[in-house]
Amino acid sequence: MSRYFLTTPIFYVNDAPHIGHAYTVLNGDAVSRWHRLLGDDVFYLTGTDEHGLKVQRAAEANGLSPLEQADGTSQRFREAWAELGVANDEFIRTTEARHHRSVQTLMQRAYDNGYIYSAVYDGWYSVSDEAYVSEEDVTESDVESGRVERMTEENYFFKLSEFEEPLLEWFEANPQNITPEGYRNEALGIIRGGLRDISITRTSINWGIPVPWAEGHVFYVWYDALTNYATAAGYGNDDERFAAWWPSVRHLLGKDIIRFHCVYWPAMLLAAGVQDLPHYHVHGWLLVGGEKMSKSAFNQISPTDLIGDFGVDGFRYSLLRDTPFGPDSEVSHEALQHRYNTDLANNFGNLLQRSSTLVHQKCDGIGPAPDPDHPLADIAAQVYADAAAAWDRFQPSVALEATWRLIRETNEYLQATEPWKMDPGPLVNTVLGNALEALRIVCVLASPAIPTSCEAAWTRLGLDGSPLDQRLPAAAVWGQYPGGLPVAGGDPLFPRLKG
Ligand code: ME8
Ligand code: MG
Repeated sequence: MSRYFLTTPIFYVNDAPHIGHAYTVLNGDAVSRWHRLLGDDVFYLTGTDEHGLKVQRAAEANGLSPLEQADGTSQRFREAWAELGVANDEFIRTTEARHHRSVQTLMQRAYDNGYIYSAVYDGWYSVSDEAYVSEEDVTESDVESGRVERMTEENYFFKLSEFEEPLLEWFEANPQNITPEGYRNEALGIIRGGLRDISITRTSINWGIPVPWAEGHVFYVWYDALTNYATAAGYGNDDERFAAWWPSVRHLLGKDIIRFHCVYWPAMLLAAGVQDLPHYHVHGWLLVGGEKMSKSAFNQISPTDLIGDFGVDGFRYSLLRDTPFGPDSEVSHEALQHRYNTDLANNFGNLLQRSSTLVHQKCDGIGPAPDPDHPLADIAAQVYADAAAAWDRFQPSVALEATWRLIRETNEYLQATEPWKMDPGPLVNTVLGNALEALRIVCVLASPAIPTSCEAAWTRLGLDGSPLDQRLPAAAVWGQYPGGLPVAGGDPLFPRLKG
C-alpha cells in the first residue's frame, strides 16, 4: 500500500477563513479522497499558523491575548472545513506542545550542523507577509503606508546562501518536484537569482517558539510554520512515524508562498539532515472582479455563506470544476450557479431522476442489470483512464470534466433510445440497466468532489455500502450493477437554481 501525505498551508489566525482558503483545502480534499479510492494510505493535513507579529497585533486590536485570538480563529477554520465536508485526518496548531518540540529539534540540528550564526539584522520587515524585505524591493510608498517597518536587531541567521548548489541539484534530479511547471520555473528563478542568508530569530517579540540555545529569542514565524508539516509526521516526537511518512509528503499551496515553501523550507530540511525533500502542487489566485481575494481586500466571501445558496456539494463541485488548478481564475456567483445548473441539475441530477422514474414506470421499481458488452463500457473505460490521469496530475477540474462525459453520453443514449416510449420487457430493461450502471460508476468517480450526493445516489440505486468504500480501478469496470435491486425515487438531488 502506498502512502500519500498531502498538506495545505496552515492559515494565519488573524482573521476568518474565506473562499481563497477553501479553494486550497477543497482541492486537497478531493485529491486525497481520490487516493483513498485507489487504496492508498492517505494522510491529509491542514491547520493554523498561530505565532508571529501579524497574529499578535490582531489580538491586541481585538483586546485579546494572542492565545485567545488563536483559539477562537483556529476553531473557525476547523468548523468551516467540517461544514464543507472536508475529510482531513489531522488539524495541527502551531501552539501545540508537540510542535514546539519539533521546531526546537529541527532548528537545533541545523545549528549543531553549523548552519546558524548570530549577526545584526538591519533592514525592512513586512508584517502582513511576515517577510524580511530587501532594500531594493522597498518603495517609498511601502514605507509611507507602513507596509514595511524598519527593524534593527541582534538575530540568528540561517546560511541559506550555502544551499544554492544543493537546491539546484535537487531540481536537476527531480523534474517533477513542483507542478505546474511555470511555478517550478519561478522557484528555480529565485534560486538562480542568488540566495542570501536570512534572519530566523527575533528578540523584539515574544509570541513565538523559544530558541533553545539563546535566551530571549523566538523563531521567525515562517520557519516555525513550515515545520508543522514535519511535526504532523512525527518529527521530534516519533522518529519511526516520521521515517515512514515523510518520504511521501506533498505540499499544496498558493503561488504567494512559493519562496518560503520551495526555497527556504527544503534548504532548512537539508541543513537539519533531512534528505527527503517534498513535492509541491501550486495553484494561482481566486480573483473577484480581477482582484485577489484576500482578508484585507473588501472582496472576501465566506465559504459557508455559499453553502446556503448551492448546498455543500453544489459549492464544492462548482468551485472545483470552474477553476482549473494552476492559473489565476475569476470566481463569481453567476459562474458558479451556471456550472451548478448545467452539470449538477441538468446532467447528473437529471440522469438519476429520469432513470429512477422510468424504473418505477417500466420495471416495477426494480433496477435491471446492464448489457455487459454495451458500447458505453468502452466510454466508461476511457473516462476512467482520463479522470485517473487528471487526478494524478493534480487537476481536479479536468478529472471532473472527464467524468461528466459518461453522464452526458448516457443522457444522449437515453435521448436516442427513448425508453419512455418502450413497453415493459427485455429491451427497456437493458436500456435502464445501462443507465443505472453508468450512474453506479459516476457515483464512485465523482465522490471525491461531491461525496454526500454520491452516497445518496448510490443508496437510491439500491446498492449496499458507500461509493467511498469502493476500490479503484476495479469499481470502475463496466457491468457490476447486479440488477434486481429496489431503486428509490425522491426529490431531485440537485434542485435547479433560479435568479
Ligand atoms: O500564508 N486564491 O497563510 P494565509 C487562492 N500562514 N488561494 C488563496 C487565496 C486566493 N485569493 N487567498 C488565500 C500564510 N489563499 C501562512 C502559510 S504554511 C507553512 C504558512 C490560500 O492565511 C492559498 O493556499 O495568508 C495561500 O497560499 C494561502 O491561502 C495563504 O494563507
Ligand atoms: Mg496571506
